[in-house]
Amino acid sequence: MILGLETSCDETAAALITPDGRILSNVVSSQADLHAQYGGVVPEVASRRHLELVTPVVRAALGEAQAELDDVELVGVTAGPGLIGALLVGVAAAKAIAWARRLPLAAVDHLHGHVASLYLEPDPLQLPFLCLLASGGHTMLLDVRERGRPPHVLGTTLDDAAGEAFDKGARLLGLGYPGGAEIDRLARAGDPAAYDFPVARVPGLDFSFSGLKTALLYAVRELGAEELADRRADLAASYQHAIVRALVDRTRRAAKDTGAGTIAVVGGVAANSELRAALPEAALAPLELCTDNGAMIASAARFADPIPYPGYLALDAYASSA
Ligand code: KG4
Ligand code: ZN
Repeated sequence: MILGLETSCDETAAALITPDGRILSNVVSSQADLHAQYGGVVPEVASRRHLELVTPVVRAALGEAQAELDDVELVGVTAGPGLIGALLVGVAAAKAIAWARRLPLAAVDHLHGHVASLYLEPDPLQLPFLCLLASGGHTMLLDVRERGRPPHVLGTTLDDAAGEAFDKGARLLGLGYPGGAEIDRLARAGDPAAYDFPVARVPGLDFSFSGLKTALLYAVRELGAEELADRRADLAASYQHAIVRALVDRTRRAAKDTGAGTIAVVGGVAANSELRAALPEAALAPLELCTDNGAMIASAARFADPIPYPGYLALDAYASSA
C-alpha cells in the first residue's frame, strides 16, 4: 500500500491507499482552530503544530487501515508549493519512514495532488479533462491529458486565489477562519441578488478577485454595526454568487475553447455548495477530498517517478512552483 503525507498549510494529514486507488484510511487533523484567533495561518505556529501532530496522525492512519509500516511499499509526500517550514516537517517525516525501511519516496506537487483526488476508487475519472483547481492558494484552469505529467495551464488568477477571496471576504464580514465554509453556510440564508458585485473582466482565461474584495469592503463600510448584522447573509450570498459566477463563466468558456468533453473541479473551493450546484455536468472531487488530505497525495504518488532509496535524503521542499 501507499502512504501519503500532506503538511503544506494548516492540515496535518496522512492516508493509506492501495495501488489501484482504494482508500484504506484518510486522517486529517486541521489546525484551523489554532489559527482562527489570528484570522489566518501563522506559518511558524503551523510548522510547530505539524511537528507535534505528524507522528500521531500517521499512527492513526495505520490504525484505521489496520496496517503496519511494514505493509507500506511507497511513501508519497507533498514537497511544494506551500509554507516552507510546514512542508519541511512532512518531507522530513516521509524521509525518515522511507529510509528506515529502504522504501522509495515520491515527491508530490500539491496541485497534482488536488487533481489526483479524481483518480481514486470507486469512480476514477478518465482522461482527458478540463480541470478547475480552486483552493486557498491557487485558482487555475488545467488541460489534463496525462496523469504523470504536469498539465497545461490555460488560465490562472492575476491576484487573489478564489479561496483567498472567500477567506478575506469572511474576515470583512466578521466571520471565522477559514471563511469559505462559513460564507457557504451563511449564504443559504441570504439573497444572492441583493448586491450586484462586479465580476472582473480580464482577457483570456485568467481570473481576478481583488476588485470584488474591495467592492465588499465598500459595501460593509457603508453599514453600521447593526445594519451589518441584518445584511450579513445577503452580503455573503451576493459575494459568493459573484465568485461562483466568475469561476463557472471562465470554466465553461475554457471548455468551449478547448473542446473539452469533461469538466472537473478540485480544491478546497470545490466544496462550495453553490459552485457544485452550478456545474451539475462536472466531475466534482468528493467532498471529503476537496480540502487538503493525504489520500490525494498518495494518489498522485502512484503517477510520480519514485526516488529510490537513499537518493531522496537530498530532497528539498519548495515554497512556490515559479
Ligand atoms: O485546498 P485547500 O484545503 O488548501 C489549499 O491548497 O489552499 O483549500 C482551502 C480553501 C480555503 O480558502 C477555504 O476557505 C476554502 O478552501 N473552502 C471553501 C469551502 N470549504 C473550504 N470555499 C468555499 N466554500 C466552501 N464550502
Ligand atoms: Zn490544497
